[in-house]
Amino acid sequence: MSVLARVLPVLKLYLTAVKVLFYQLLHKPFAVPALPKQHGKVAIVTGGARGLGYAIVRQLAGLGMHVIIASHDKKQGLAAVKSIREEQSRALVDFEFVDLASLSSVRQFVCRFQAQGLPLHVLINNAAVMLVPEGKTDDGFELHFATNYLGHFLLTRFLLDTLVHSGKDEACSRIISISSSAHYTADKDFLFSRSMQHYSAHGAYAHSKLAQVLFTYRLQQELQSSGCAVTASAVDPGVVDTHLYRNLSTPARLAQRLIAHLLFRVGSWRSPAQAAATAVYAAASPELEGVGGCYLYEGKRVSSSALSYDVELQAQLWRRSCSLLGLADSLYVYQAKRGGGGGGAYTNLSL
Ligand SMILES: NC(=O)c1ccc[n+]([C@@H]2O[C@H](COP(=O)([O-])OP(=O)(O)OC[C@H]3O[C@@H](n4cnc5c(N)ncnc54)[C@H](OP(=O)(O)O)[C@@H]3O)[C@@H](O)[C@H]2O)c1
Repeated sequence: MSVLARVLPVLKLYLTAVKVLFYQLLHKPFAVPALPKQHGKVAIVTGGARGLGYAIVRQLAGLGMHVIIASHDKKQGLAAVKSIREEQSRALVDFEFVDLASLSSVRQFVCRFQAQGLPLHVLINNAAVMLVPEGKTDDGFELHFATNYLGHFLLTRFLLDTLVHSGKDEACSRIISISSSAHYTADKDFLFSRSMQHYSAHGAYAHSKLAQVLFTYRLQQELQSSGCAVTASAVDPGVVDTHLYRNLSTPARLAQRLIAHLLFRVGSWRSPAQAAATAVYAAASPELEGVGGCYLYEGKRVSSSALSYDVELQAQLWRRSCSLLGLADSLYVYQAKRGGGGGGAYTNLSL
């Protein structure tokens, strides 16, 4: 592996992070405006037991939503539920186990969720890993790709029926995928090689985050043409002080802790609560009612990378994901809606 191939993704990722930190230094964090109460609504937040996900769960629960933390650490998930219930005595928060890196676990999670007969108004695809050493899941997929993207792709498609049935024209269900500025650094080669020829943990993370944006835009287009009351958008939380950085090498981790500490004091490095604001806004703001296909940062719609708007690339990734998962390309969403078949299954998926 050439030195350049190894170093380039690292440089690109850190330069992007520095740019974001500068932006955050010069701008006040976005504060969520007063949002209407969300009683009767149900949300799933993957990776909601810690970090940004936990902050999102806490804020959505504060609005009266029933929030389900979907994560793979039961102890931590139950501790998160306990802490939010202690803080907000009327909070409706639950934990359900899911390992996004396992396709069978995603299926089982959806089965258990559907058995409860709950509606679903908000799905936040937040869980992620970053900079994990080269490895594959039991299903044979690279770890970043599987956890951050493919598991969420499957989860979203399995939950689509419920999201479609729960959405109304004046109150669409919302699918929000937490991406990252790292996606700006990704190229498109990853789509065509199942295992990377030259593994780069930095590159793999960036690719998984670009995949989320491509998926979001394609999904929004599909949902829009079907006339379903569901929207899909991506959120970039900025640079946030969380456990995501735990896989940095020890010297890099020490430097990151020091820089985070200093920059946090001047407001450049966001707290999870501050960074959660845009996702909460995307989930509950009346201003975004019926609006999808956005890439949101600091409460505003901004441009994602040029590559993410490549419609052919979106379609290629969609087809490839369906083929990897053994799913049909098309969602039955359209036929069911257009044919007026409201009562049956909207998607062509069996669990
Ligand atoms: N922190 C940042 O600066 C930053 C910047 C841009 C974007 N983001 C994005 O923000 C989102 C949240 O990240 P964070 O910063 O809050 O990181 P975090 O504190 O590490 O939280 C990630 C969550 O995902 C969970 N998770 C990891 N693998 C999982 C799996 N296989 N199945 C189910 N859950 C799993 C983690 O559980 P465990 O801890 O138990 O593994 C954790 O609860 C991610 O999508 C990340 O890419 C973060």
